[in-house]
Amino acid sequence: MTQFAKKGRFIVVANWKMNPVNRDEAKRIASTIKNTAKDLKKTQVIIAAPYVYLPTLIGRAGKSAQSAVSFAAQNVNSEPQGSYTGEVSAEMLQDIDCSYIIVGHSERRAMGESDSVVAAKASAAIRAGLRPIICIGEAEHDAQGAYLGVVGAQIKASLEGIDRSSVGKIAIAYEPIWAIGAKEAMSPELIQEMMIFVRKTLSDIYGQDAATDVPVLYGGTVNARNVKDITERGSTDGLLVGRESLNREGFKQLLKIADECR
Ligand code: PGA
Repeated sequence: MTQFAKKGRFIVVANWKMNPVNRDEAKRIASTIKNTAKDLKKTQVIIAAPYVYLPTLIGRAGKSAQSAVSFAAQNVNSEPQGSYTGEVSAEMLQDIDCSYIIVGHSERRAMGESDSVVAAKASAAIRAGLRPIICIGEAEHDAQGAYLGVVGAQIKASLEGIDRSSVGKIAIAYEPIWAIGAKEAMSPELIQEMMIFVRKTLSDIYGQDAATDVPVLYGGTVNARNVKDITERGSTDGLLVGRESLNREGFKQLLKIADECR
């Protein structure tokens, strides 16, 4: 089964969102990340950049030059081509040697993306030979535990159409919405609980063997200060980092710390 990343690698995704506002700054941040990533022993770094920067950042050398850092788009259309003004297909991303796609980020779900749209996008990515990072997460971590039902249902519906033979090509990013862009991340204890829950849900759908091939990432206010705790005690296979991934010094520290903790 194709692996999402090299087996056993800790995965750190830099989600730049709609940043930075110019290409030179994008190049500077990417170059700091690349320089840091080449000395990491156990970590695979993926930069999820805005579409317009991807060709420049990937460069002519394409995939062969992507050993230290790989690239992801932050969205994709589920159709291969056609009359969809403003959209980009997985085939187009594959053609520029982009390897990964974030689908179903809560900021896109807030713009109206449903679980079935997310599932169609993830399947389109796999069909085109790309690997989707499928985001899920509850809006509220209520005391009664209703969030477990919410997250469980979201996982099942967002993976609709992805069969057992393809599940090794995906990663799940668990991102509680209330911890994104917040002051503090979820506690490592709660992260660990949710990692167990997500893995259990995956194994209910695909069986335990196939489910262990799926990396489960945590995202939401990860930074250089809390990465040690989260990596050591959160039991995650990786991290999805927003704001701190645009801070060159902070992200460099974060990567080094994560790599040392593994
Ligand atoms: P944050 O964003 O690290 O700034 O909280 C995480 C995300 O939205 O993926």
